[in-house]
Amino acid sequence: MSNKVYIVAGARPNFMKIAPIINELKNSNIEFKLIHTGQHYDNNMSKVFFDDLGIPEPNVYLNVGSGTHAFQTAKIMIEFEKVILKEEPSLVLVVGDVNSTLACALVAKKRGIKIAHVEAGLRSFDQTMPEEINRLLTDQISDFLFITERSAELNLIKEGIDKKKIFFVGNIMIDTLIKNLERARIINYYEKLNLKKKEFALVTLHRPSNVDNKENLLKVIEIINYLQEKIKVFFPVHPRTDKNIKKFNLEKKLKDLNLILTEPIGYLEFLNLMENSKLILTDSGGIQEEASYLKVPVITLRENTERPVTVEKGTNTVIGCNYEIAVKCIDKIFSNSYKKGQDIEKWDGKTAERITSILKKHLII
Ligand code: UD1
Repeated sequence: MSNKVYIVAGARPNFMKIAPIINELKNSNIEFKLIHTGQHYDNNMSKVFFDDLGIPEPNVYLNVGSGTHAFQTAKIMIEFEKVILKEEPSLVLVVGDVNSTLACALVAKKRGIKIAHVEAGLRSFDQTMPEEINRLLTDQISDFLFITERSAELNLIKEGIDKKKIFFVGNIMIDTLIKNLERARIINYYEKLNLKKKEFALVTLHRPSNVDNKENLLKVIEIINYLQEKIKVFFPVHPRTDKNIKKFNLEKKLKDLNLILTEPIGYLEFLNLMENSKLILTDSGGIQEEASYLKVPVITLRENTERPVTVEKGTNTVIGCNYEIAVKCIDKIFSNSYKKGQDIEKWDGKTAERITSILKKHLII
């Protein structure tokens, strides 16, 4: 067995989570290898984040690509097993809740390798979400469960996880945000787009429950149309959403009153837009947290959130795709009566440091 840590990343929301961990491992002289599963492969869904965040080239690229859940998960498992059969690491570190997270955790566990899960314990209690299944199963077999907020500890304890395995380390994505905020300010992307500070809204949309279902997608489009009546809207479109708007013939339903549509954009550009936007309309998990940290109002187009601290302390409101509630929320933001948000415990840029020191203490790495 080698003393290496294998870090797994596969899809866009993973990349901002591994960057600070890689830096810390380097600073601590801990040997690691980076495994990219290839779940996301387009330049603007993957490479741009490596460039923006200075993540080293992956040591291994599994080249798995898209497919059904079973196909994608199985293919990652088969390819990842080949890698660890050649050289067994002492720890596999997985982040978040995508198919790559679960697939690699399963393979490692069955080879008797320890697993660290960063962003453990978050629960939407909605098992129609593929991510919820990935989260539940990964946590059951993890040895180190690094959590971002206190609610996660209660969830894990209820599921029978030993308290000794749970570590409240804070939010790794906020490490990346803090580190890059100044760089994002320097590129000043919003001005390049001729947008004015706090005079535009940002929209992101990709969750299958919103975009794979014509009725829901139409509801969300109506909300975007209302927003356009109030303010300029910038909407970088995820590939899944783009395909479905075309498939359901909804291109004409999305009005072109005050709208900028683009392909997905890079990390620094997006961070600069988030910081300077008046509000964000999204169905993402991570953006609820990033907006809360930046104290920018965020309306979440989902029935639930696995990140309740963003509602309790942050700037998040979860509304499903309810048009009336969306209108009320948007109007509150415009009349300046929307909640302002507070600082959140341990979202302070030191999460990677905490993770690394825990790993050093408990493992011979
Ligand atoms: C995945 C994650 C989700 C995460 C999201 C962020 C799972 C179950 N879902 O969802 O948690 O929030 O990433 O984007 O792991 N596609 C491209 N280019 C790419 C990648 C995908 O065009 O580089 C298209 C393909 O048509 C693919 C579709 O997008 O079929 C969906 O990709 P997939 O990886 O299955 O899931 P996401 O919706 O991106």
